[in-house]
Amino acid sequence: MDYSGKIVVITGASSGIGKESALEFAKLRASVVLVSRNKDKLDEVAEELSKYQTKVLVCVCDVSKKDQVNQLSNQVLEKFGTVDILVNNAGFGIYGNFDTLKVEDVESQMATNYLGMVYCTKAFLPKMLQQKSGHIVNVASVAASFGIPAMAGYCASKFAMLGFSESLYHELKGSGVGVTVVSPIMVRTNFFEHGSFNKMPRYTTALSPVTVARAVVRASSSPRLEIVTPQIVRIAIWFKQTLPYLINPIVGKIFRRSKTN
Ligand SMILES: NC(=O)c1ccc[n+]([C@@H]2O[C@H](COP(=O)([O-])OP(=O)(O)OC[C@H]3O[C@@H](n4cnc5c(N)ncnc54)[C@H](OP(=O)(O)O)[C@@H]3O)[C@@H](O)[C@H]2O)c1
Repeated sequence: MDYSGKIVVITGASSGIGKESALEFAKLRASVVLVSRNKDKLDEVAEELSKYQTKVLVCVCDVSKKDQVNQLSNQVLEKFGTVDILVNNAGFGIYGNFDTLKVEDVESQMATNYLGMVYCTKAFLPKMLQQKSGHIVNVASVAASFGIPAMAGYCASKFAMLGFSESLYHELKGSGVGVTVVSPIMVRTNFFEHGSFNKMPRYTTALSPVTVARAVVRASSSPRLEIVTPQIVRIAIWFKQTLPYLINPIVGKIFRRSKTN
């Protein structure tokens, strides 16, 4: 696909997977809209992108706030007149057994990870449908397929994202607009800087955010519903879905054993 001049909106672009995705799209000469709540960090990313000959727009927006997302889409459509790719990537996780979490912890993860994606999709999809082209990339997780102990709120938000995307995928068939979910395993980003993760053991098998960013670019022109990164993990998902009574106890045992609290 020729990305030159395409308008790519990336939420959660100030860090990690979102930031690396912005760099990958800019290398392909796409124009990039950087979205997050932190203007200083976004300006730093914009500065890094300035070496590529492409247009960059910084938009401060909390995706969990519907009004801010509507302002975002107005700003993007006013400036560029169109949108080609929307990467719903903004998200965070809180680690802890459900009985120790506040209900607000579950609500806030759902508000950003799931509803943020819904608001952005609602705001940009009409333009894509009108122009009969576009692609929505939703960054979920393998936590969209496995209920991981101490991550109930996070897993719920990612299961919701995958279910929403699957419905939308069927609805959009033939419209010229695609939707693809990118589901990585653990990635080395600021995600784990949230204080609650102090209690979680660090794994050695984490991916680089660049690897996931490249999957995001692939996803933006893919006819598939879901791209699992690395691909081999799809086998584990297949086993879990096909033989849940056998696999679920094993998964539970592995994750419970690795928990420190
Ligand atoms: N790291 C992993 O192991 C892993 C694995 C699978 C999936 N994921 C998913 O990948 C996505 C990106 O995470 P990451 O690993 O790159 O973590 P990260 O480095 O912490 O980046 C998270 C990004 O989301 C933004 N963000 C958070 N809340 C927001 C809100 N309400 N409105 C707008 N932006 C918001 C943050 O920006 P500001 O703070 O500047 O607003 C930041 O740019 C998330 O959806 C995460 O669930 C991560």
